[in-house]
Amino acid sequence: MKRMTLCLGLVGLLAMAWSISAQEEATTVQSGVFSEEQAGRGEQLFGEACLVCHQPEEFATGGYMDGWSGMSVNDFVEFVRSTMPEDNPGRLKREEYIDIIAFVFQQNGLPAGETEMERAGLKDIQIEGPFGESAQ
Ligand code: HEC
Repeated sequence: MKRMTLCLGLVGLLAMAWSISAQEEATTVQSGVFSEEQAGRGEQLFGEACLVCHQPEEFATGGYMDGWSGMSVNDFVEFVRSTMPEDNPGRLKREEYIDIIAFVFQQNGLPAGETEMERAGLKDIQIEGPFGESAQ
């Protein structure tokens, strides 16, 4: 019985150590945090709400994204949401801003993955280069 308890204790310790190290290793935009489909929706929305004033390349060239390095995706989304479209900030739904940011990431050559970016997890995703130029 004693041995059993010791064993369970060890498993618990290992699990704790694992979760601590998992927390330290931050998720970044390099690890496929948005899906192709989400970026596709973002492209559509960008066309409807942003293209009158911006070309997508604007945010995928000249080191634009480098300026966001070290910030969270949440910071970027909230910044855009509170300032754009310039003539009516916050007009879109929050999920729509997130989709648009997925499109911007895709334009920066960041890899798509299986999951979509969702509001709840955005603070835990760090923006980090390298950023390529327009992927398509
Ligand atoms: C009515 C025109 C207009 C529309 C529509 C518009 N913007 Fe802007 N946007 C501007 C202007 C003006 C600036 C400031 C000058 C610049 O950086 O181009 C700006 C700046 C930006 C910046 C850069 C801010 C910075 O300094 O880092 C981002 C990112 C941005 N817009 C995203 C968007 C997105 C995404 C949309 C669509 C949801 C959008 N904008 C719609 C006019 C517009």
